[in-house]
Amino acid sequence: MSALGLNSSLAPVDLILVGLGNVQQRLLYLLDTRRALLAERYGLDLRVVGVADSRGAAAGEIDPGELLRHKQAGGGAGDFAGGGGQPGASALDLVRQVRADVLVEASPVNLSDGEPALGFVLAAIARGMSVVLANKAPLALRFQDVHDAAQRAGVGLAFSATVCGGLPVVNVGMRDLVAARIERVEGVFNSTSNYILSEMARGAPYAAALAEAQQRGIAETNPRLDVEGWDSANKLTIVANAVLRFACSVRDVKPVIGIEGAERQGAEGVVRLLGIAQRRAGGGYDLSVQPTLLPHDHKLAQVNGWQMGVLYTSDLFEQVFIAIDERGPTGTAAAMLRDVVNLRR
Ligand SMILES: NC(=O)c1ccc[n+]([C@@H]2O[C@H](COP(=O)([O-])OP(=O)(O)OC[C@H]3O[C@@H](n4cnc5c(N)ncnc54)[C@H](OP(=O)(O)O)[C@@H]3O)[C@@H](O)[C@H]2O)c1
Repeated sequence: MSALGLNSSLAPVDLILVGLGNVQQRLLYLLDTRRALLAERYGLDLRVVGVADSRGAAAGEIDPGELLRHKQAGGGAGDFAGGGGQPGASALDLVRQVRADVLVEASPVNLSDGEPALGFVLAAIARGMSVVLANKAPLALRFQDVHDAAQRAGVGLAFSATVCGGLPVVNVGMRDLVAARIERVEGVFNSTSNYILSEMARGAPYAAALAEAQQRGIAETNPRLDVEGWDSANKLTIVANAVLRFACSVRDVKPVIGIEGAERQGAEGVVRLLGIAQRRAGGGYDLSVQPTLLPHDHKLAQVNGWQMGVLYTSDLFEQVFIAIDERGPTGTAAAMLRDVVNLRR
């Protein structure tokens, strides 16, 4: 038995966590509370060996529960005594200096160049680490480059958390629609804007609905990404590359129109902020994000409030519709955990 009471025949998986916000704090909680279950069910011992936030980094044997309490009490990675904290050290320092199996990246989205996350991801791949992402920016901007780098290095790349949190949009699309020609993907990809639209349809003010999404930890660090449609565009881009095998970046999604003013269109049906990939007759896909008026019996009209949903239309599987009701960041954290475990299975 190890010092922490787990069987030493378990396969250790060493993790570096970058970003310690809403999502990673939920992951720390899961690593703390599901440890025995992960050992019993999958034979894995997931260990945190490095963490970084905006103010510093820590490396060593990090107890996830202890770090969570430290962070919730206002501490940072850099002043975490339980793990060799270094104020001012960066995630890049950590990735370059600490040996680990998987980088788990959940720092904020930067849509101008994907940095600094893109640099962390490429550095980790260059050092032979697999990468699990919740941050969409590196893939929305540079999917093919990141994918190719991972292939060349022979490491895993998993990103199910980047598209609709816990909903396995990417997994179903990549794994289960085998040999199908996908004609159309339609999705309510963003729960913050869906919640705001639903509340506005009930007469609630826009600002109050947004504040509620922020308080639940679901809204993006910069909520303009949610309400202006860019979060949906990022997710659509990742689905296009990973599932449709259509090489593109978020810059190819046109138009991208957010929800401001959308309530005015709501009289005859239900307005949803839809991301759509429509197969072109000559090959490739047209990608768009915009508020769309749907008849009441449309599958995605029934995706309400905190829900997100995606409808795949293909020649072999006809219509596959999946949806999730996600009211906090736990689903996203659980998706990152799923990715780590699946990389090792
Ligand atoms: N929230 C969700 O439900 C959800 C769902 C799917 C995907 N995501 C994605 O997951 C990521 C994190 O979301 P979140 O809600 O957890 O965000 P958040 O609460 O704003 O947390 C962001 C974290 O990143 C840290 N950070 C900022 N700059 C950094 C840097 N240069 N190096 C290292 N760490 C840095 C922050 O440090 P400090 O703690 O020092 O401020 C903070 O801990 C985002 O990319 C988001 O798009 C979120």
